Amino acid sequence: MNITLFGATGKTGRYLIDEGQRRGVNLTVFARSGSSFQQADIRIIRGDLTDRALVREAVRGADTVLSALGPTSPSHPRNLPITRATETILTAMTEEHVTRFIAISTGTAADPGDGFDWKIKAPAQLIRLFMPSSYRDIIGMAKTVRASPLEWTMVRVALLKDLPASHRLNVGLYGHTRHSLGISRADVASFMFDQAENRAFIRQAPGISTFAS
Ligand SMILES: NC(=O)c1ccc[n+]([C@@H]2O[C@H](COP(=O)([O-])OP(=O)(O)OC[C@H]3O[C@@H](n4cnc5c(N)ncnc54)[C@H](OP(=O)(O)O)[C@@H]3O)[C@@H](O)[C@H]2O)c1
Repeated sequence: MNITLFGATGKTGRYLIDEGQRRGVNLTVFARSGSSFQQADIRIIRGDLTDRALVREAVRGADTVLSALGPTSPSHPRNLPITRATETILTAMTEEHVTRFIAISTGTAADPGDGFDWKIKAPAQLIRLFMPSSYRDIIGMAKTVRASPLEWTMVRVALLKDLPASHRLNVGLYGHTRHSLGISRADVASFMFDQAENRAFIRQAPGISTFAS
């Protein structure tokens, strides 16, 4: 299986790469120009996420594209880089006839089927008020993905932790499924690769969190 990873130069990316290699997947990592990311046993494509030809080269021949792109800095740029990058990726996938796209999102980008869960709503309001650039980019990215005719899944997470995988998750819409606030990056990576192997959540955006009984 060939999988192209975007946003894998960050903290969750480390777990995605490890999980992909553990499963014997051929990985291509798109790294932004200027990124210090290095890994000798992986195909790396370096450049600008708005470079359509380069993004197209990165997704060519992929069975699935995974994205961990997302705003994590309080000084996130105002020009919606994640939304624009996602638009470029989805266009490139269409041109290359690659249909499966799995991206990390958050509860801040509500699903029409969500109920009320204060653990998700409260941080979303704080992000909207105090990190407006990030908020607009999270919403813009989710809107872009939902508008795509491709076979997308958004994996929505709250607080990411550097802990070993538990493989015991709550999975489902917020306000309907009982969720905890946190999840390990290892569990996120494992869940995303599981989605690359099955069609359980096509055009859905489940929340996932560490199991809470
Ligand atoms: N940390 C949390 O608790 C948390 C909570 C909810 C959701 N999330 C989401 O989970 C995902 C992974 O989080 P993480 O903690 O692993 O994040 P991270 O280490 O900061 O990695 C984020 C990735 O997105 C890329 N990125 C960030 N800003 C960008 C920009 N302006 N333009 C292009 N690319 C950009 C980074 O590229 P570079 O390496 O080149 O900077 C990196 O590959 C993100 O989508 C994040 O929004 C995180």
